[in-house]
Amino acid sequence: MRHLIDPLDFTKEEIESLLDLADRIIADPAAYQEVARHKKLATLFYEPSTRTRLSFEAAMLNLGGSVLGFPAADVSSASKGESVADTIRVISSYADIAAMRHPKEGAPLRASQYSGIPVINAGDGGHNHPTQTLTDLMTIRRRCGRLDHLTIGLCGDLKFGRTVHSLIKSLARYEGVKFILISPKELRVPSYIITDVVEPAGLEYQEVRSLEDSMPQLDILYMTRVQRERFFNEEDYIRLKNTYILTEDKMKLASPNLAVLHPLPRVNEIALSVDDDPRAAYFEQAKNGVYVRMALIMTLLGLADPKGKEGA
Ligand code: NCD
Repeated sequence: MRHLIDPLDFTKEEIESLLDLADRIIADPAAYQEVARHKKLATLFYEPSTRTRLSFEAAMLNLGGSVLGFPAADVSSASKGESVADTIRVISSYADIAAMRHPKEGAPLRASQYSGIPVINAGDGGHNHPTQTLTDLMTIRRRCGRLDHLTIGLCGDLKFGRTVHSLIKSLARYEGVKFILISPKELRVPSYIITDVVEPAGLEYQEVRSLEDSMPQLDILYMTRVQRERFFNEEDYIRLKNTYILTEDKMKLASPNLAVLHPLPRVNEIALSVDDDPRAAYFEQAKNGVYVRMALIMTLLGLADPKGKEGA
């Protein structure tokens, strides 16, 4: 049985086949509407979510399956003190696969160790968010036609942003990738990302403060929200929250082939006027999230691909 807890749980080749499957689903969604008939997905969300939970649910429904679950810890037995280990043991007899989001780093990993069904990490604290990364990779590949030889600017809260950590881990496996890490000094990436991920891969990187100066070099700009819920005090959040705002003026400095990604929700980091720029890819990215999660559910459940190939 496979789980998806860490973005590196799948090899590069497995990721490519999963993205290929997502592309086949996008090309002919009707062909996939019965593949998970009689299968159930449990969404166990101990932290707020809009896109991740609803795109998982839409994905399972699009595959002809059903969904059950809870959207917040306070309406589950977690509020009575139940452990994730006990919860997942029980859910294993109610559903075929589970997606779990939890404020504690490592909670989905722990759940997977007690689970009788595949567990997907739908975000664990400030640590990882591997299915957002699949969505990001799918969007980059569809926009740029490749995942290697790209210069990627990651901007905003690189410290607490779990989507940033997972994306860097995944992209560090590709040749010729260059990271421009744009943040105030308080929100720089955790040092393990540099020492354990970027440096061993021998990739070029820069840690910089200015978004404007970085714009002309970028193939991808990955904007992020300052993660208020992970701050220790509100004053720091207020001081840092508007450090970066992507505007039309800044977009003028960038390549016509740039793609702007954002995992969403957006708070104030991207001016609304940028939405109409063809280089804005964030709503398309959110839409891709459904297709890539359909491909992931098929893969983890070992469901056959009606378009000819075995589940990736
Ligand atoms: C992200 C998350 O939850 O980490 N959202 C998402 O899943 N699309 C990013 C964020 O909350 O800022």
